[in-house]
Amino acid sequence: MKKNKKTIHLIAAARPNFMKIAPLYHALRKKDWAEPEIIHTGQHYDLNMSDDFFNDLNLPEPHIHLGIGSGTHAEQTGRVMIAYEKILLNKRPNLTIVVGDVNSTLAATLAATKLGVKVAHLEAGLRAYDRSMPEEINRVVTDSLADILWTPSPDADENLKKEGISPDKIQRVGNIMIDSIEMLRPRIEKEPEWQKLKMKRNSYGLVTLHRPSNVDTVDKLKILCKALLQIAEKAPVVFPAHPRTMKNLKKFKLLNLIKSSPDILMISPLSYIPFMNLVFNCRFVITDSGGIQEETTYLGIPCLTVRPHTERPITITQGTNTLTKPEDLNKQVEAILTKKREKCKIKLWDGKTAKRIVGTLSSPLYK
Ligand code: UD1
Repeated sequence: MKKNKKTIHLIAAARPNFMKIAPLYHALRKKDWAEPEIIHTGQHYDLNMSDDFFNDLNLPEPHIHLGIGSGTHAEQTGRVMIAYEKILLNKRPNLTIVVGDVNSTLAATLAATKLGVKVAHLEAGLRAYDRSMPEEINRVVTDSLADILWTPSPDADENLKKEGISPDKIQRVGNIMIDSIEMLRPRIEKEPEWQKLKMKRNSYGLVTLHRPSNVDTVDKLKILCKALLQIAEKAPVVFPAHPRTMKNLKKFKLLNLIKSSPDILMISPLSYIPFMNLVFNCRFVITDSGGIQEETTYLGIPCLTVRPHTERPITITQGTNTLTKPEDLNKQVEAILTKKREKCKIKLWDGKTAKRIVGTLSSPLYK
């Protein structure tokens, strides 16, 4: 029986990938024709950036660990290509699935397509139209090479068609991250994280910042810290700091400034379930992440995204997201504090994306 199974590699690399591969891994495991294998590139390696996510999402130990770690963009990309190519040369899967837009997404796509291994990209077609973002380069190149493009929303389909990608390759499957929320909703709701941090339900702000454009220069990061101090006077703020952000707060000597406010609670990054528990129960979110814009839209929570543009415009047109400059953050918080929670009506953001994907893979075309 086993010898007729199709081997499917799921590439997991960094924090935002893990909640995207989990629903798909679990859905594929239930099929007698599929043998899903998790390949962890090791781009994120800290316990609370990786292993705890695997536990929360009920994922097994990765089948293969490439252990590539940190480095410059070329170093990370190159190391994943070299290591993954070795795996592929030893034994080729029937399909490699890459998710999101991190360096490992691009690297695994390059290694696989050059060896003629079919690649599917989950979360294809997102564009910020800003090539100064490393993720935008990863998105554009991955989409131009992948054989199957699974998109979350109509704008993504249009972006791909504008780039000359054949409509035959594009399949709108919905937003996989909603599957993870719904799969783990009972555990997220039960988690006592907000009580543990002594917050009041629906009255605190949750902050995540890690984009190089926000945290890698002292001037920008100082403006952001000062804005958070002002915001904390209106509502307490919980700030799980990404390693990049923590490193720079120390380097630019801004950590003491942030810590001078009794109403800003700096904590280490959290794994999926406690973090989502903080999202579920907060009043508003301030972020520069990609995925959190979508999670807040789905949950109807006001979100301020500190970026000039977003590759997820549907979160603005049909969701709760607002783009803001660091200078305007404090003013924007006042505006959103009056907003009520809204129910999300975006089509195919329904917790059934993994099922739809597995359905397309079961078709004779791919089997
Ligand atoms: C990466 C992704 C970004 C994603 C983010 C989420 C790229 C280009 N960027 O950015 O799209 O939004 O992950 O977290 O792929 N570090 C640790 N422990 C870890 C991981 C990283 O300390 O487990 C440190 C690294 O040493 C480095 C910094 O954090 O100094 C940045 O890590 P890196 O993987 O290069 O990029 P991210 O900023 O996390």
